[in-house]
Amino acid sequence: MESNYQDRIPNNVGLGANRTLQRALEHWQPEFLNWWHGLGPSDFNASSVYLRTAISVDTKGWATFDYVKMPDYRWGIFLAQEENDRRVGFGDHFGQPVWQQVPGEHRSTLRRLIVTQGDTEPASVEQQRLLGHTAPSLYDLRNLFQVNVEEGRHLWAMVYLLHAYFGRDGREEAEELLERHSGDADKPRILSTFNEPISDWLSFYMFTYFTDRDGKFQLKSLAESSFDPLSRTCKFMLTEEAHHMFVGDTGIGRVIKRTIEVMKELGTDDPLALRKAGVVDLPTIQKYLNFWFSSSLDLFGGDSSSNAASYFANGLKGRPDEIKYEDHIEAESSFTLELPDGKGGVREERIPMRNAVNEVVREAYVRDCEKGLARWNRHLEEAGYPQRMTLPSTRFRRTLGSWANVATSPEGKPIAQEEFNSHLDEWLPTPDDRAYVHSVMHGVFERGKMASWIAPPERGINTQPINFEYVKFH
Ligand SMILES: [Fe+2]
Ligand SMILES: [Fe+2]
Repeated sequence: MESNYQDRIPNNVGLGANRTLQRALEHWQPEFLNWWHGLGPSDFNASSVYLRTAISVDTKGWATFDYVKMPDYRWGIFLAQEENDRRVGFGDHFGQPVWQQVPGEHRSTLRRLIVTQGDTEPASVEQQRLLGHTAPSLYDLRNLFQVNVEEGRHLWAMVYLLHAYFGRDGREEAEELLERHSGDADKPRILSTFNEPISDWLSFYMFTYFTDRDGKFQLKSLAESSFDPLSRTCKFMLTEEAHHMFVGDTGIGRVIKRTIEVMKELGTDDPLALRKAGVVDLPTIQKYLNFWFSSSLDLFGGDSSSNAASYFANGLKGRPDEIKYEDHIEAESSFTLELPDGKGGVREERIPMRNAVNEVVREAYVRDCEKGLARWNRHLEEAGYPQRMTLPSTRFRRTLGSWANVATSPEGKPIAQEEFNSHLDEWLPTPDDRAYVHSVMHGVFERGKMASWIAPPERGINTQPINFEYVKFH
């Protein structure tokens, strides 16, 4: 299908040939823009931002760079190319042709999956709406806005599916995606991580590293779906998502690098001395990491889940990179879960593999998260410091699944609740830590300059220099 970039809604789905659908989406478009003006990035809508825009899905078109005012960004609908004779890759329908329409019996489940994914996209824009004012550099400001406009496009992607394949219910769900708001007392976003405020840049980097990475795994699971339009939508979203995780990965790395520089200068790792010098001490970075990692783990769902089993059986939502698994049916296989035994210890339980899909995906996610830690720790190693960043255990501070509300140490050892409480200040950001981090957040808008608490990036965007004018304020 050709890309139509000239249309009011750029797309490669042949929107022009479906007048009803086109009209419905053109009706939704002003509502989206209204939402963007009200709850998108505050105050920067008149600035020209050096942004990447997808105008088609081929290598030349998906990343074109230019100055754009965010409200003029061309939010389009782009699906990855259709695969010839694609077949169901897992579950009970393995090997059958994939579906171009929604099977009636899976309609409400697929709609729910799409709405849940769709809800996270505008939620993160809302969470991040005030961050522009305290950006540590023009480079970072531009990256924030890149992430924001692409989350907006991801919302468009999901709304397209709802409009195109789910009739009136789908249109109603699309309206509601703009009616729920992050942190709203009456109409919050669906998943709790997406109701946590992101009011400082350390949280933003943690979010883009850990929570956008959950997004990557959800999209990869949905990219395996037998409902082909969903699969193709998610495949293309993944190309954009990679940059969001890059922002988090390099952002955390740059914060650590800057802290090390000052540790060297001052010859101390004393948190108070480092804070006086305007950088974030390593224990505080670790606490932020503990918070966002554990919060993001819950997004994968319960470790033993009959929903996950039925998604897998029915071919709705699979495992990332299904091709790498040996058994695509998993009707007979099992998985060993480690559960709290209720007496302060751990017991094992074998459950059907299909019921353990969430846990399997969570484990793959943890392995992916570890890569960033290895990179960040290399900075410490090269500087000759013994400290290391660590990922807490998947049992730590969970609010969902078998380990929900079970007190454990960050290493995952079950402990008494009193012991847990007495260590909380060492393990998770305290109001004092948050206040300190907030106190160093000041917008730095001079070309090439960085805030005191972060090192410059290694290179600029799209081969531009680091001191490029990534955002023009006029
Ligand atoms: Fe997204
Ligand atoms: Fe993202």
